[in-house]
Amino acid sequence: MYIHALLLFIAVIPPAASVSISQDPVPKGCRYVLRDQSWPSLSDWAHLNTSVDWQLIATVPLASVSHDPTYDEAACARMQQSWAFSQTHIPDPASIVEPLAQNESCDPFTPRTSPCRLGNYAAYAINVSSPSRATAGLQFAREKNIRLVIKSTRHDLLGKSIGRGSLGLCVQNLHQVSFFTYNSSLYTGPPRKFSLGILAWGIYEAAALVGKRVLAGTCNTVSVAGGFSQAGGHSLLSSTYGLSADNVLEWEVVLPDSSLVVATPNQASDLYWALSGGGGSTYAVVMSMTVKTFPESSIGIGGAAITYTNQGISEDTYWASITAFRNHIPAWVAAGGVFLPLRPLTFPDKTPDEVNNLIAPFTTELDNLAISFVLNITSFPNYLAHFNQYYRSFPSVNGGRLIPRSLITSNRTQDLVDVYRQITASGDFMMIGVCFVVSGPPVAPNGLNPYWRDTIVHNTIQSSWNFTASWENKEVEMLAG
Ligand SMILES: Cc1cc2nc3c(=O)[nH]c(=O)nc-3n(C[C@H](O)[C@H](O)[C@H](O)COP(=O)(O)OP(=O)(O)OC[C@H]3O[C@@H](n4cnc5c(N)ncnc54)[C@H](O)[C@@H]3O)c2cc1C
Ligand SMILES: *[C@@H]1O[C@H](CO)[C@@H](O)[C@H](O)[C@H]1NC(C)=O
Ligand SMILES: *[C@@H]1O[C@H](CO)[C@@H](O)[C@H](O)[C@H]1NC(C)=O
Ligand SMILES: *[C@@H]1O[C@H](CO)[C@@H](O)[C@H](O)[C@H]1NC(C)=O
Ligand SMILES: *[C@@H]1O[C@H](CO)[C@@H](O)[C@H](O)[C@H]1NC(C)=O
Ligand SMILES: *[C@@H]1O[C@H](CO)[C@@H](O)[C@H](O)[C@H]1NC(C)=O
Ligand SMILES: *[C@@H]1O[C@H](CO)[C@@H](O)[C@H](O)[C@H]1NC(C)=O
Ligand SMILES: *[C@@H]1O[C@H](CO)[C@@H](O)[C@H](O)[C@H]1NC(C)=O
Repeated sequence: MYIHALLLFIAVIPPAASVSISQDPVPKGCRYVLRDQSWPSLSDWAHLNTSVDWQLIATVPLASVSHDPTYDEAACARMQQSWAFSQTHIPDPASIVEPLAQNESCDPFTPRTSPCRLGNYAAYAINVSSPSRATAGLQFAREKNIRLVIKSTRHDLLGKSIGRGSLGLCVQNLHQVSFFTYNSSLYTGPPRKFSLGILAWGIYEAAALVGKRVLAGTCNTVSVAGGFSQAGGHSLLSSTYGLSADNVLEWEVVLPDSSLVVATPNQASDLYWALSGGGGSTYAVVMSMTVKTFPESSIGIGGAAITYTNQGISEDTYWASITAFRNHIPAWVAAGGVFLPLRPLTFPDKTPDEVNNLIAPFTTELDNLAISFVLNITSFPNYLAHFNQYYRSFPSVNGGRLIPRSLITSNRTQDLVDVYRQITASGDFMMIGVCFVVSGPPVAPNGLNPYWRDTIVHNTIQSSWNFTASWENKEVEMLAG
């Protein structure tokens, strides 16, 4: 009752600039959202609740503890401290990770007296942990013609998992992974099977226990069977094994018509093709996926961290070192390496001597530029230990671009470095680039954007977010980016 009361309370506060109530009937192809006249009634929702094992949740924004009439000083202080971390938002059924999309509609840093509004949040969520709950949600959305969104970790920075005023199917609570031998005309060997919400971290730990390597995110909080693998999925192991989508053997899904289908290269093969690279939320609700694994070797994972700063050297010298760095990317990725500049390089099955030989041409150039650097070459027995050393915590990123190999190997490398220099000089921005090649071939043809195959750097621009600055100042900062 309490949750209902709060939802109604939130609903009657008109959002500052979006009070228009659409008239029935809605235009063809449009879906009802919260506050539309034909939005389902409370008794409709109560009925849906009975068909999803009582796992229907009315959205209460996490930061409602920071606003009247539900203000709680201690809880609000905790919320402020943890708000910037995606781990705070992931377990919640509706919370939004990206600050721009949160839009301060219910924010722990705004005054206690400012109302907590639903803003861009979904209205309801079903805690999906079985196909039958997904089926019930799909059927309800179809019958009531309401907006539906599939939500996993909500790391999608384009906002595809937000679904303002919608019913959300939350798939982030399933954490199951199993290993078994797989035998099909395409592949015989040990795959792993993930349920939908499993995060990279859980997979690395599970794989280490059985002596396997698996492809999952550098960021350890993306959902491996969710948007990550459905859109491609690059890993520190991609120069050696390809993208995650290239290694999927099966997708177990619920279709919009509520049917359960297993899509493989030989069965529902068009669906398999589309899901393997075509992007999340488009074709079906993925319940689990089965992918190839790769054995750990006796050599383990080679790594190297080269660290230097622009302290004590001229800006030109610093950027000359970045140009030099760019020129070594093709050789390093060809040797199976994946890396972020100024972060460690990852070389599966390379000994420390081999790693040293690979990076020596670059460190010689740093010497020639009189740049002092710290070099740390590492060797770990398995992928988990390597990941633990370097990537346990990963910064959040905004926006991205795929840089083709042709640009790095052409005489235009300098143009690219000049663009980086301009971007980082124009404000509080940091360039991050994950460098890798997508080694082929995929287990079967798939719908992956073909640009991945030509990519050598995935660049992202990072900027800090000041939660206590005025909204105008935050927006100015984002627009500058
Ligand atoms: C900090 C950070 C680091 C990142 N690091 C990497 C990286 O190293 N490598 C990489 O390849 N990518 C990386 N990404 C990008 C990330 O893989 C994508 O944003 C991906 O879409 C996240 O998927 P998700 O399911 O976790 O997130 P969500 O935002 O919950 O979902 C993304 C999309 O998939 C849909 N979806 C989710 N689950 C399902 C499902 N079960 N069935 C159908 N549709 C579903 C959603 O509706 C949405 O459209 C990173 C992103 C961030 C923010
Ligand atoms: C943020 O909310 C305001 C109303 O308070 C609205 O006008 C604006 O469109 C919203 N912006 C985003 C990005 O959601
Ligand atoms: C669904 O039922 C559960 C169990 O009774 C209840 O806790 C929850 O509030 C209900 N959801 C909604 C939206 O009413
Ligand atoms: C969702 O279900 C999972 C178990 O499947 C449970 O652990 C979790 O607490 C539930 N989440 C909510 C918000 O009810
Ligand atoms: C895989 O299946 C084929 C045909 O069913 C069979 O001949 C083969 O022995 C199987 N391989 C393994 C490793 O089980
Ligand atoms: C170098 O790597 C080792 C692990 O082999 C680690 O313990 C140490 O902290 C690293 N040193 C630096 C300076 O990064
Ligand atoms: C770069 O190479 C192209 C041909 O590959 C040539 O046309 C162009 O003039 C070169 N540009 C510079 C600045 O050298
Ligand atoms: C954030 O903004 C507030 C208010 O403008 C300001 O006082 C504070 O110094 C800013 N913090 C940072 C780290 O810039």
